[in-house]
Amino acid sequence: MTQWTAICRVDDIPLLGSRRVARGQGLPVALFRTAGDRVHALLDRCPHKGGPLSQGIVFGDSVACPLHNWTIAFADGRARAPDEGCTPTFACKVEGGQVFLDADELAGKALDLKAPVAGPCAHAHG
Ligand code: FES
Repeated sequence: MTQWTAICRVDDIPLLGSRRVARGQGLPVALFRTAGDRVHALLDRCPHKGGPLSQGIVFGDSVACPLHNWTIAFADGRARAPDEGCTPTFACKVEGGQVFLDADELAGKALDLKAPVAGPCAHAHG
């Protein structure tokens, strides 16, 4: 049984923009608001090199990653061909203008995926 948790109002998400939802563990979830006021939730991590999808550009039912412009579909988290990869999706529903996410998924889904590490490799010497 899904345990829906109220997150925010649809209006709290910029139109054609996103809002990050922090979790106790794991990377944040990104909520996206489409032109038609639909809301979708993906892990805030591009399947390519871990770019922050929440900073991407929403168009149609997809978001373009801000780093190298891969297009990720909201429906299944998949990168548009010819790119290959998949970002975890999160169950999301809107009722009365309120956005809900599944508490179990927030607490336990995709905890193994880490943020990319920026800067010089820690193992590189000299
Ligand atoms: S990290 Fe998203 S396209 Fe490269």
